[in-house]
Amino acid sequence: MRLRIGFIGLGTMGEPIANNLRRAGHELAVWNRTPARADHLVSRGAKRAATPRECASGRDAVFTCVSDERALDAVLDGPDGVLAGLREGDVLVDLTTAGVTSARAVAARADARGARFVACPVLGSKTAAEQAQVVLVAGGPGPARERLRPALHAISARLFELDDPAQAALMKLCVNAVGGAMMTAFGEAVALASAGGVEPSRLVEVLQASAFHSPLYLMKGELVQKKDWAPRFRIALAEKDQRLAQEAAAELGAQVPVSEAVRELMAAATEAGRGDQDVAALADLYLEWTRRR
Ligand SMILES: NC(=O)c1ccc[n+]([C@@H]2O[C@H](COP(=O)([O-])OP(=O)(O)OC[C@H]3O[C@@H](n4cnc5c(N)ncnc54)[C@H](OP(=O)(O)O)[C@@H]3O)[C@@H](O)[C@H]2O)c1
Repeated sequence: MRLRIGFIGLGTMGEPIANNLRRAGHELAVWNRTPARADHLVSRGAKRAATPRECASGRDAVFTCVSDERALDAVLDGPDGVLAGLREGDVLVDLTTAGVTSARAVAARADARGARFVACPVLGSKTAAEQAQVVLVAGGPGPARERLRPALHAISARLFELDDPAQAALMKLCVNAVGGAMMTAFGEAVALASAGGVEPSRLVEVLQASAFHSPLYLMKGELVQKKDWAPRFRIALAEKDQRLAQEAAAELGAQVPVSEAVRELMAAATEAGRGDQDVAALADLYLEWTRRR
């Protein structure tokens, strides 16, 4: 079924995901804070909306995909915001990793307008987004998920569904708590191996033969080899995910000391001016520390 979709936030993940919705035949209106980032989609037939409100008005579904919960509030609120454009029965779906508190609050604000909210955080890389191979965890009311399903299948390899937006948000934070620990442990191991004269490529080879193998080490190991720190997933966003996991843990009474250590390392990287580099650059931060010794 062809849906009329509004899409807000055309960054690393949002742009290719919106493009896949367009390629699947859905009618697309787009808005991005920096208008030039919408040019590619507009040149391929998407309608450029003047405001988030206009982007949300008269659509079957409105997608948001921005940096964090504050950016989400910035596009939702105010006279030109998404919420002002929603009508009774509309569906708002948020792809942002915005955390549990945000999921609950946005669901309540959408509900107050008679609209339905689905928190739908994304698992996967920029490449997965381009190839419509991301994994989605959609949490929200059944009828809203049903309406969205054709669009969600068009952008993903797998779709998990839950009834509660806050649980979908929590699921994403839990997965990224594991991912953050893996990425920092990998950076640490690369620097330790290098300090002893072991090439990172050999480390990846052996790691991949072990029970701890992961596509993450292949992907990021290649970037480490090439010293390619162009952002696929920015360190600043990865740090935000650990912050959100800690906030959720504090509310739920869970202990997350590993996430705390990971966040500290990511904060150190951001402080060293690496916030806009890819998470693969965490390995380079460790290498820099080793070189300075
Ligand atoms: N990159 C990944 O591999 C990955 C994977 C899974 C999940 N995620 C999550 O997906 C979300 C998007 O990530 P991304 O990598 O696409 O981020 P990104 O490339 O940094 O893009 C961020 C987007 O948010 C917009 N934005 C930021 N602050 C804003 C504000 N105050 N008002 C309006 N718009 C604002 C940006 O607009 P401008 O263009 O104007 O800056 C841009 O469109 C994040 O929550 C991230 O954690 C990312």
